[in-house]
Amino acid sequence: MVIKNLYYFLSLILVSLVSFSTSFTPLDNYLLNCGSTTNTSLYNRPFLADSTKPGSDFLTADRSIPLKNRNPPPNSSNLYHTARVFTTSSAYKFNIKGNGTYLVRLHFSPFVAQGFNLTSAKFSVLVNGDLLLISSHLDYSNDNNNTVLKEYILEVDGNMVDVVFTPVNGSSFGFVNAIEVFSAPKDFITDVGIRLISADGSTDFKKLSSQVLETIHRINVGGPKLTPFNDTLWRTWIPDDDYLALKSAAKHVSTTHPPNYQPGGASQEIGPDAVYMTAQEMNRDNTNLDSGFNITWNFPVSSGGAQYLVRLHFCDIVSRALNLLYFNVYLNGYLAYEDLDLSVLTTHVLASPIYVDFVVDSDDSGVVQVSVGPSVVSTTSRMNAILNGAEIMKMVNLERSHMGSKKTIWVLVGSIVGGLVGLCVVVVLLAVLLAMKCSRKKPKPRRAESAAWTPLRVYGGSSHSRMSDVTAYGSPGPNGYLALRIPFADIQSATNNFDQNLIIGSGGFGTVYKGVLRDNIKVAVKRGVPGSRQGLPEFQTEITVLSKIRHRHLVSLVGYCEEQSEMILVYEYMEKGPLKNHLYGSGIPPLSWKQRLQICIGSARGIHYLHTGSTQGVIHRDIKSTNILLDENYVAKVADFGLSKDGPCLDETHVSTGVKGSFGYLDPEYFRRQQLTDKSDVYSFGVVLFEVLCARPAVDPLLAREQVNLAEWAMQWYKKGMLEKIIDPHLVGQIKPSSLKKFGETAEKCLADYGVDRPTMGDVLWNLECALQLQETRQQREPHEDDNIDVPVLPTPGIDPCAPSINIRTEGEDGDPTSDMSTTKLFSQLITNEGR
Ligand SMILES: *[C@@H]1O[C@H](CO)[C@@H](O)[C@H](O)[C@H]1NC(C)=O
Ligand SMILES: *[C@@H]1O[C@H](CO)[C@@H](O)[C@H](O)[C@H]1NC(C)=O
Ligand SMILES: *[C@@H]1O[C@H](CO)[C@@H](O)[C@H](O)[C@H]1NC(C)=O
Ligand SMILES: *[C@@H]1O[C@H](CO)[C@@H](O)[C@H](O)[C@H]1NC(C)=O
Ligand SMILES: *[C@@H]1O[C@H](CO)[C@@H](O)[C@H](O)[C@H]1NC(C)=O
Ligand SMILES: *[C@@H]1O[C@H](CO)[C@@H](O)[C@H](O)[C@H]1NC(C)=O
Ligand SMILES: *[C@@H]1O[C@H](CO)[C@@H](O)[C@H](O)[C@H]1NC(C)=O
Ligand SMILES: *[C@@H]1O[C@H](CO)[C@@H](O)[C@H](O)[C@H]1NC(C)=O
Repeated sequence: MVIKNLYYFLSLILVSLVSFSTSFTPLDNYLLNCGSTTNTSLYNRPFLADSTKPGSDFLTADRSIPLKNRNPPPNSSNLYHTARVFTTSSAYKFNIKGNGTYLVRLHFSPFVAQGFNLTSAKFSVLVNGDLLLISSHLDYSNDNNNTVLKEYILEVDGNMVDVVFTPVNGSSFGFVNAIEVFSAPKDFITDVGIRLISADGSTDFKKLSSQVLETIHRINVGGPKLTPFNDTLWRTWIPDDDYLALKSAAKHVSTTHPPNYQPGGASQEIGPDAVYMTAQEMNRDNTNLDSGFNITWNFPVSSGGAQYLVRLHFCDIVSRALNLLYFNVYLNGYLAYEDLDLSVLTTHVLASPIYVDFVVDSDDSGVVQVSVGPSVVSTTSRMNAILNGAEIMKMVNLERSHMGSKKTIWVLVGSIVGGLVGLCVVVVLLAVLLAMKCSRKKPKPRRAESAAWTPLRVYGGSSHSRMSDVTAYGSPGPNGYLALRIPFADIQSATNNFDQNLIIGSGGFGTVYKGVLRDNIKVAVKRGVPGSRQGLPEFQTEITVLSKIRHRHLVSLVGYCEEQSEMILVYEYMEKGPLKNHLYGSGIPPLSWKQRLQICIGSARGIHYLHTGSTQGVIHRDIKSTNILLDENYVAKVADFGLSKDGPCLDETHVSTGVKGSFGYLDPEYFRRQQLTDKSDVYSFGVVLFEVLCARPAVDPLLAREQVNLAEWAMQWYKKGMLEKIIDPHLVGQIKPSSLKKFGETAEKCLADYGVDRPTMGDVLWNLECALQLQETRQQREPHEDDNIDVPVLPTPGIDPCAPSINIRTEGEDGDPTSDMSTTKLFSQLITNEGR
């Protein structure tokens, strides 16, 4: 209730902010009434006469002719009663104030006057040197009162937009009735987080902003036609019903509440209120619910050869609470987004609008097909899928007519800058490797097959003196890691020639075996499908990077083998397996609170090292309880680091099917800003902390709806101040209130909505150590006082209870979870362990 009210309150604030804010004002805004000597307006927008001073202002090389329609159709806009006719190549030039995305709209409404039959005009239109339009592509049909509005969205650098009309063949002429050139809102088109969906799966699409986009369809799904009156960017949105493949599959839904726009989500400029306040949902009225179905729209496009940006708009106006709606999105029949969870994407505020950009290739079908339908996560009773809006924009295949080099150069510069933005890894070595890796990467149809070459399912192992052990296998080569080469024969004998009984895990890429090397080192051997070179770049990256990362709390690479078309990675064996198995679901005896704290501290230390250690800036990207492994002494080691999925190519995005693996752990800000930072790991780690405390999965769709998502559920109880109500029953009575308080605080901070508000892993580590200290000590501030009374530490308001003892280190502890250290012992340890 508290939470709900809070959200409600926040929404109120946001709504009022939105309604008080003025509508979008473009930096540059040119609206021209062509061929006219009077200003006129359309949808309350003033279009200025372009003929006030002939040959001046906008028109250059003006040998054009203003035309007036003496018999305009009734009730048609004044704007279309005049036109300018070009018998030679003529340019409109618009000075613009800044670089950025611009919208260029051209209005064509042909008529017959002064011997010109405008319908038969033949001309081309170039904008900044790019051929955007040939008039033979215009279809002045009756559907739209003989009016064609062409809209282009393009990136402009420099200080000029020029629009050039050129008659084709010289014997013909061109014309235009009105021109709009105005700047788009910031981040209207971005280069991050865009996925190309095709038969080969989902891959990054990197250069969207360098494309010129032509709007083909703009659809208000489930709602009425919207005119420029209803849209801050003066767009027209049309209803979707005519595009539905099966009308009975869909049902209109609408709300009267304005959308809860959130920072980082969609804005009113991305889509107006009315788009997000209506939707189509699955029509479950007359359907057997056991078999799910999709809602499908077919949007006609020119067939073959072109690529289209598909921008889909969502706003969960159908759910009564968060985390009830999970569905899949398909484009042209290919899975484009699996388990889309609008609650996660929208920073946990219901009915807040978002949009997702995809790119598809057109096929011979002549349509772009959009489907939404239930995902495997959706239970029958909650099965649903929605869509609020869709835009289909064609990437205009640029042809450059004259002096095209300028544009080419900036496209190049643009993509380099874009690439830099996308990079998360500072290390040059990594960057180079990744460039190789990302470019050579084969697109993958599904996540399952993409889990290649990650030490994800490595269990067990000795953790001592590996380096000295393995260097025996080879002499250090020029690349250093050659030292880690292990002969195939050794691996064969270590695994009893890949004995089926030694298999401890498998993934789409291959199989993991338990093995023992010659010198009795227990290892986990991960073997790719022999002969398959798929995953080679991942293999090489993993060797190079893993061989450089050594830390007590990171699973180590013991060696590798690349012989006889084999790709084999050998890791230290982690005897006790993943942390998750020790928390729930496997019947393993529960860990004590102290053990759990030590495991959390160990993993925090490992992640902290990844973030700040010698190989700087490695973001793990897939922190979860299955990626934290325990050795025989319950020492936690983080696995799968920095290399998960496709490696740290940062523009790996929210539409990535790889996201699925982290379902429930994923940083909400990642979706908003589409930038992964080390704070994304902090968020995921916060989820792990609650997992450790509550002994339940991060997402459990079988639970009551408010409990499905652990992060949300735990935060609700935390905010109520009743975290102790949801802790693992095995821990009841075991945790000191002060320790629990510290732990809860830490987890809560990790889950802050915004990365900047989250602590660093260093802070997290320190706070967890503090929670351990609070658990271990009695009243630490006055150790001289009577030790027999177990007084919980009562923190002085405003003072961090752990503040006085900064250098507490627990790493050197004996690992016996039940050992109960006395205050004296702890304090002496503080001194001896200081400085680690
Ligand atoms: C059209 O509007 C502009 C700007 O408001 C003004 O400067 C110009 O004089 C007007 N032209 C006519 C013909 O009214
Ligand atoms: C034109 O508008 C007038 C009133 O604004 C209306 O009565 C008339 O029906 C309209 N004509 C057409 C063809 O829409
Ligand atoms: C526009 O971008 C170019 C190159 O990207 C840069 O040199 C120029 O300074 C920018 N101009 C403005 C006004 O930002
Ligand atoms: C104008 O040209 C179009 C197509 O070229 C033709 O269909 C139409 O009849 C012409 N109109 C007149 C009045 O000549
Ligand atoms: C066509 O013009 C009529 C008035 O003549 C107007 O009512 C109608 O909305 C227009 N249709 C479109 C698609 O613009
Ligand atoms: C241009 O002229 C040539 C020859 O006169 C003709 O074959 C061609 O179709 C014309 N192009 C257009 C677009 O009209
Ligand atoms: C669109 O704008 C018109 C004119 O302001 C208004 O009458 C209409 O209700 C609006 N439609 C929606 C769906 O907001
Ligand atoms: C939805 O469409 C996709 C792609 O065509 C298909 O693979 C999937 O099975 C469909 N789902 C249902 C429930 O029919």
